[in-house]
Amino acid sequence: MSGDLYREQLLDHYHNPTNYGVLEDADIDIEMDNPTCGDEIHVTARLDDQGQIEKVMFEGQGCVVSMAAASMLTEEVVGKSPAQISEMGLSDVQELMGGVRLSMGRVKCALLALNAMKQGLQEAGKR
Ligand code: FES
Repeated sequence: MSGDLYREQLLDHYHNPTNYGVLEDADIDIEMDNPTCGDEIHVTARLDDQGQIEKVMFEGQGCVVSMAAASMLTEEVVGKSPAQISEMGLSDVQELMGGVRLSMGRVKCALLALNAMKQGLQEAGKR
């Protein structure tokens, strides 16, 4: 895929995010911000009987990279266990985003939702 297509895909997720909102009866409910810019994200998630992610929703205010990454992540993590999520890192998010190379300043943006998710699992005692 060309760079332009990646960008279009990111913009599409940014403008029409998947799973945007707040989940009721959430097992995981966490807010996190990116201290370098003040952007914020609120992630809620529910686990199924097997302890795997059943549904994730997010809301927040942020740049294209952070919001698009969050939107993509809410699709990607469904069916995964907390252990699998805790092993995810930057390369997984970059892959989700079509293999984009991110500058140092953008890495935090891309990881905001994943880090929130991980901390939420930890706080909920799932990891
Ligand atoms: Fe704030 Fe990207 S500039 S999360």
